[in-house]
Amino acid sequence: MEDKDTHRDGAIGVFDSGYGGLTVLSEIKSLMPEYDFIYLGDNARTPYGNRSYERVYEFTLEAVKWFFKHGCKLVVLACNTASAKALRSIQQIDLPKIDINNRVLGVIRPTAENVSKISQSGHIGIMGTEGTIQSKSYDIEINKLHPHMFVTGEACPMWVPLVENREYNKPGADYFVKKHIDSILSKDPLIDTIILGCTHYPLLIEKITDFLPKGVRAISQGKLVAESLKNYLERHPEMDILCTKNGTITYFTTDSPSKFIEQASIFLDEEIVAQKADL
Ligand code: DGL
Repeated sequence: MEDKDTHRDGAIGVFDSGYGGLTVLSEIKSLMPEYDFIYLGDNARTPYGNRSYERVYEFTLEAVKWFFKHGCKLVVLACNTASAKALRSIQQIDLPKIDINNRVLGVIRPTAENVSKISQSGHIGIMGTEGTIQSKSYDIEINKLHPHMFVTGEACPMWVPLVENREYNKPGADYFVKKHIDSILSKDPLIDTIILGCTHYPLLIEKITDFLPKGVRAISQGKLVAESLKNYLERHPEMDILCTKNGTITYFTTDSPSKFIEQASIFLDEEIVAQKADL
């Protein structure tokens, strides 16, 4: 289907490099079912996880402008890599030039705000893409809010392909899950909380939990992001009033809509319709 009739004044934009952001959208949707959403997956250019800052920033900024063009005032970067590598520049450099009233939020800050409530030991592990871990965005955000917490990162480059190839709940996934759990816990044995800092990893949570020693738990961030968005809109009625509330979700992809629909079934329990984005 072509990108027609796509202007959705007042929908909240949810962006990801591909399908994974659907895990975040699901949590947002279940907490805020009355709002309208536009989801955009940049499937033509995914994965972002091993791309340079310049590329991730360029692609994410294009997506943000696309959302604004389609009537969104508020955009959530559900993608950890985009949040890690592009959000700050977009907020500080681009938004003031594009429209100072529009907002772009990410997934790292809401997670960082919550870690002190979750961890007893104060030692946190972050699993993410190479880009997210190299950026040290979690370390920076967590230590800004909680200077005494210890943050250790672990890049898990095989975990996204395991999910996208539907191997996440098969025995073949065990090796790669165990390898990275063992690695992060050997770097800091006092870790008691592992944050799944990538859109795809919630699908691996059962397997991850199987390999965690007693006293260590894995946390998906979708709920934290959803609660933080709800809270943001409560604190910003001037933005909330601009958000329409008809309970719709419109899905866009930069690649093939039929492939998007097929792969989205990994992440969603419902059937969806997707359109090609004019990006
Ligand atoms: N959505 C990305 C993230 O959360 C994972 C997939 C990718 O590498 O593009 O970091």
